[in-house]
Amino acid sequence: MDKWPCRKILIAGILSSTCINAHPASEPEKSRGELLYSTHCIACHTTHVHWRDQRLATDWQSLAKQVRRWQSNTGLGWNEEDIAAVTTYLNALFYHFPPSPEEKAVSLKQEKER
Ligand code: HEC
Repeated sequence: MDKWPCRKILIAGILSSTCINAHPASEPEKSRGELLYSTHCIACHTTHVHWRDQRLATDWQSLAKQVRRWQSNTGLGWNEEDIAAVTTYLNALFYHFPPSPEEKAVSLKQEKER
């Protein structure tokens, strides 16, 4: 008899992150920025990077500059739209800088896509 009959199911659940309704289907879809960031960037960041005292990002533009630097460091070749989407995502989550024209463009686009 398997000593841990539920363990495999649990692990499979965690891996696929569809674990027991943690993300019900009715939840709003993840934004493009969130998907890009969680796929390519989060591996070596903890949230600490974004709230440390001497952070490099001091407004929307400088945050976008860091996003651009990192996607280029990691060879992703993102276009301006991807960079703006990830900047918007990080800004909403951690930084809360006043919106810039680029950010407004991203939110308009997301509204249209809904
Ligand atoms: C190889 C590990 C690594 C990867 C991959 C990585 N980062 Fe970073 N990131 C860091 C480290 C370490 C710092 C802090 C030191 C620095 O800025 O050089 C940082 C800092 C940042 C900052 C500045 C934070 C602040 O306020 O000072 C931003 C923004 C950022 N990363 C975005 C990204 C994005 C977007 C991606 C994906 C394209 C990404 N990073 C991928 C390691 C990484």
